Amino acid sequence: MAGGGRRTGPSPARLALMVLLLAAAVAAEAKVVHVEEPHRRSMLANGLGSAPPMGWNSWNHFQCDGNGEVVIRETADALVSTGLAALGYKYVNIDDCWAEPKRDAMGNLVANTNTFPHGIKALADYVHSKGLKLGIYSDAGFQTCAKVQPGSLGHEEQDAKTFAAWGVDYLKYDNCNNGDLKPLERYPEMSKALMKAGRPIYFSLCECDRSYSWFRGDMHPARWGAAYGNSWRTTNDIADTWESMIATADQNEVWAEYARPGGWNDPDMLEVGNGGMKNNEYVVHFSLWAISKAPLIIGCDVRHMPQETYDILANKEVIAVNQDPLGVQAKKVRMEGSSEIWAAPLSDYRTAVVLLNRHATDEATITARWDDIGLPAGTAVEARDLWLHKTLDTAFTDKMAFDVAARSCRMFVLKSRLR
Ligand code: GAL
Repeated sequence: MAGGGRRTGPSPARLALMVLLLAAAVAAEAKVVHVEEPHRRSMLANGLGSAPPMGWNSWNHFQCDGNGEVVIRETADALVSTGLAALGYKYVNIDDCWAEPKRDAMGNLVANTNTFPHGIKALADYVHSKGLKLGIYSDAGFQTCAKVQPGSLGHEEQDAKTFAAWGVDYLKYDNCNNGDLKPLERYPEMSKALMKAGRPIYFSLCECDRSYSWFRGDMHPARWGAAYGNSWRTTNDIADTWESMIATADQNEVWAEYARPGGWNDPDMLEVGNGGMKNNEYVVHFSLWAISKAPLIIGCDVRHMPQETYDILANKEVIAVNQDPLGVQAKKVRMEGSSEIWAAPLSDYRTAVVLLNRHATDEATITARWDDIGLPAGTAVEARDLWLHKTLDTAFTDKMAFDVAARSCRMFVLKSRLR
C-alpha cells in the first residue's frame, strides 16, 4: 500500500509478544541441543572402527566349500609374508559354514569337526600369534544364510560370550531366517550382548536383503546402524562383474553422509583378484571402495595372488585415502553421461578425487572443476597421481582435465600450493 496508506504491520505490543515467543522458541531449541549433546547416541561404545576395517574374508572366493582352518591359517601366513598385514590388512574373517548344524547339549555353538577340527580358540591363538585378528560370522536369525548352522537369535548373550572366550575380534552378523522379526528387534540384542562379553569385538551388521521393504525405506540400516554397529551393509551381495561392482558403488554412495569414524557404510567385500573383471576394472573397484571409506576386506585367495592383484591391494597411497582420519565418504560431485567425478575432503586440507569413465569402449576427457570438488576459485593445486605414484609437474588452477580410458579411472590427492 504505497503513498501514505494505513499501517498494516503488527502493533508494537504484538511485535514485542512475537519477539518474546521467538526468543522462547530459540531457547527451547538451544536447550534440546544442550541436553542431547553430551550423550552418546550409540549403544556400541567399543572404541573400534575409528578407520574402516581392513582384512580378508573367506566368502567371496571360497563360499562354504573351501572354508576351513587350513585355509584360514595359510591366509594369515600369506597376509604376513606378502606384506599386506603390515599395510593394515589385520582381520582374518571366517564367513558362513564354520559350525556344526546343531548346538551342543549346553546350547553352545560348536565348530565343524571336519573343517575346523582344532576349534576356533586354537585358530584365534594362531592368528593372534601372527599379530592379526580373527573374525567370525553369525546371523540374527534361527539359521545362517547358507542354512547349515544355527543362527544366534535367542542365543545372543551365550554366543557373544563364546566368541569372546574364543578370542574373536570381529563379528559379521547376517540377516537370514529371522521369522520376520524386524532388524531393530534383533540387532540391538547382539550389540548389547557384545558390550557385555568382556572383549572389544568389531560389530559388522550385514542386514542387506533388498527384498525386505524396510531395506528400501525408512529402516535402511544406514539410518540406524551407527547406534548398534561399527559398519552396516548398504547393498545386496556384490558379484565379481563390472556391472555388479559399479551398481554396488552407486547404491552405497547414496548413504555417504551417514559414514563417520566409528561407523561406516559397507558396500560388501572386495572382488579384486577373483578373476571376473579386468585389471583396470579392479583398479576402479579398489579406488571407489577406498574413497568411499568402505571396509577393505579382501575376497580373493591371497595365498596365490598374481602380481597385478597384489599391486592393487597394496597401493599404500590409495589405502591412505581410505584410512584418512577425517573419515568423510566421497560423493559423486558431477556426472556427465558415463563420466563421473567422485570427491572427498581429506585431513590437512587435502582433497581426494576419482575421475571415472564408466563407458564400456570409449576413452573420455574428464574435467574436474574446483567449483564441483569444493576448492576455492583461483586455488593453485598440486596433484599427486595415486596409481602412477607421481606428483604432476604442473600446478592446476580452477580445473584439471585428463583422458581416461574405458572402464578406468584416475585417482588424485590435491593440495593447495600456497601451503
Ligand atoms: C550373505 C552375505 C554374504 C555371505 C553369505 C553367507 O547374506 O551377504 O556376504 O556372508 O550370506 O551365507
